[in-house]
Amino acid sequence: MTRRTDSITTTHWTRDPAPLLLRSGTTRFRDPNATDPSPPSAAITDTALQSLRRADTANHADAGLAPEFARDDDGRWLTRLRCPTGTSFYGTGEVAGPLHRNNQTVTLWNTDSFGYTIETPSLYQAHPWVLGLREDGSAFGILVDTTFRCEIALDSDTVLAASDGIAPAVYILDGPSPQAVLEELAALIGTTPLPPLWALGFHQCRYSYEAEHEVLGIAEEFRDRWLPCDTIWLDIDYMVDARPFTIDQHKFPDAEKMILHLRTKGFRTAWILDPGIKVDERDTTFVSGKSQDVFIKQPDGSPFVGEVWPGRCAWPDFANADVRRWWGDQTARFIRNGADGVWNDMNEPSVFDGPGRTIPTDCLHEADAGLGGPDDHARYHNIYGMQMARASFEGMLRERPDRRPFVLSRSNFLGGHRYACCWTGDSASTWEHLSWTIPMMLNLGLSGQVFAGCDIGGFADNADDMLFARWMGIGCLLPFARAHSDKNTNRHEPWSFGPACEHACRVALERRYRLLPYLYTLFEHAERTGVPPMRPLFFADPADESLRNAEDSFLLGSDVLVRASVTPEGGCTAPMPTGIWRRFEPTETSDAHLPELYLRGGAILPMGPIMQHTGQRPLDPITLVVSLDAQGEARGELFEDAGDGFGYREGDCLRTVYAAKRVRDHVRVWIEHSEGDRPRPLRAAEIVVLLDDGGLARSAGVGGDMICLRVAPSAIEPIDPENPVGRGA
Ligand code: NOJ
Repeated sequence: MTRRTDSITTTHWTRDPAPLLLRSGTTRFRDPNATDPSPPSAAITDTALQSLRRADTANHADAGLAPEFARDDDGRWLTRLRCPTGTSFYGTGEVAGPLHRNNQTVTLWNTDSFGYTIETPSLYQAHPWVLGLREDGSAFGILVDTTFRCEIALDSDTVLAASDGIAPAVYILDGPSPQAVLEELAALIGTTPLPPLWALGFHQCRYSYEAEHEVLGIAEEFRDRWLPCDTIWLDIDYMVDARPFTIDQHKFPDAEKMILHLRTKGFRTAWILDPGIKVDERDTTFVSGKSQDVFIKQPDGSPFVGEVWPGRCAWPDFANADVRRWWGDQTARFIRNGADGVWNDMNEPSVFDGPGRTIPTDCLHEADAGLGGPDDHARYHNIYGMQMARASFEGMLRERPDRRPFVLSRSNFLGGHRYACCWTGDSASTWEHLSWTIPMMLNLGLSGQVFAGCDIGGFADNADDMLFARWMGIGCLLPFARAHSDKNTNRHEPWSFGPACEHACRVALERRYRLLPYLYTLFEHAERTGVPPMRPLFFADPADESLRNAEDSFLLGSDVLVRASVTPEGGCTAPMPTGIWRRFEPTETSDAHLPELYLRGGAILPMGPIMQHTGQRPLDPITLVVSLDAQGEARGELFEDAGDGFGYREGDCLRTVYAAKRVRDHVRVWIEHSEGDRPRPLRAAEIVVLLDDGGLARSAGVGGDMICLRVAPSAIEPIDPENPVGRGA
């Protein structure tokens, strides 16, 4: 049934007379006619809950940004927020199509959406959150805190949400910039924990690498061809009949030994674990689950059984803490084979013969009181994947308390970034799907899910060399970079499309590995602030309207600008933000299929050497790429730590602020500030100054020293402050 919010005619709108001021930028509202208490959902962190409990009742100061409440004829809870004219909307999580969400409607109901289009109403994740950018560049956000099915319709200046179930609490966040609003959001829903460094390397996947010899062969190809890669993924065919927690001994006779062997070559492995457990008294996971009563039940008390890869399956009730513990224990036992990462798939959940391809909404969950207590699937459907990822994350952490868990989840809910990285599911190998990649990543990042990627090359259908080269170029600059492809399609290893495409892939991969010190620094910043490493172009100047629709260009942090081509014709349509942006290339060669990269005037970019995997060599030499501003100055930050574990939270890290200044015909580079207990490594430092004529000036020294570099005066002077845009491009 499609119920359109645009057909809503109610006029009985009310306001909350006593909203709760949580922080200076965050206010909670409730429908005054709601009889239940609108409890916080799984999106809200325990820390935020404590401040909710402490908050005093206060009237929200800015009456212009107060939501209104009503019911529609179907009994849905309506929330309306009238926004200033000229507002640009973003967020709403995982959505295909335009970055700019004005005049778009999304239905939050997690769905297995193979080969989705922009018409598909619901994808795999639900984020009841909208970010609004006012004309003047200030921002606000609205979080409609419900886990029930919810439709969010955005027109030119109104947010209208219609949700089932119980009345949601509604949070309005306000700030001077989108970055400030994302920091407010992070105070409510938490941030993404710093991933292990290896997880930021390149990942190679296929549905499926079927047997040990194939996995080892793929690993060997990467090393023989000097194509950097950290992780090889194992899809469902490693299992016995696709049953979770089994390994087919014919195909993988000694998984532990294989994993160890791969580790000696610098490879990690990540293994898929789906939620459906085969109903079979010989299946030890099923027997264990049955004896511990972990499976979701139908209203008559019998277990719900539905079809997925292994056949008839029962479904763990992840909304229950004991069940999460049970699942976490299964996961912990499984990863004792040495698996580094876990991949939770099909967890919308996808039930092939279920209504709407999922569990019927009247099935029952014995949910924790904190999540809302026992209730039906209609309430917990949207957090099924999130709670599964949570169970996996917590199980991995219990098993290996000194390592950062890495979980990839297809389904998720607002706040689920606390547990899992995500990818955008079963895309297709088409130019259209490639063109949605950047906006999808950006809107996910603006919805808290900052650690995200796509299937590089597209999942279904057949890519060709040009599409794959372009996709690798962009994909290697995304927060999570993994190539993947469906069964019976062209393969997506970097060498699959011949030498020219392989060259493009190699440069794309080398770029990623050279940029890793910067990317890692951005992830550490994201853990502290919630501000995504991958940012929309308008973050460079939120008041500049021309930047608001840019879908083939984005920022990494505030300093690196990426201009990509997402059409076969090539070329980037996005405008350049104002200010100085100098083109640079992190590797010695380049490739015409790869995005152009620019460094902001005023920035110093820390880069590492090319390496074949993140554990291959230390950050030595460090390269500092300097792009001076109009005053001849620049600054940049680098965060370093052990690359895994939690020592950095106790000070075992090193944060360095580098500075550079032009003094007559010299550029000096030095460490302006440093923090943390980790000793500074003695290492070589290479300085590269981007010159205004497009050239480079280089110098070398020892990292930690002040390095002085003489450059030809004509090369860096004069800078014309009237026309500094795109200098050196
Ligand atoms: C669906 C996932 O989206 C896809 O990535 C995976 O390869 C298949 N399931 C098989 O596990």
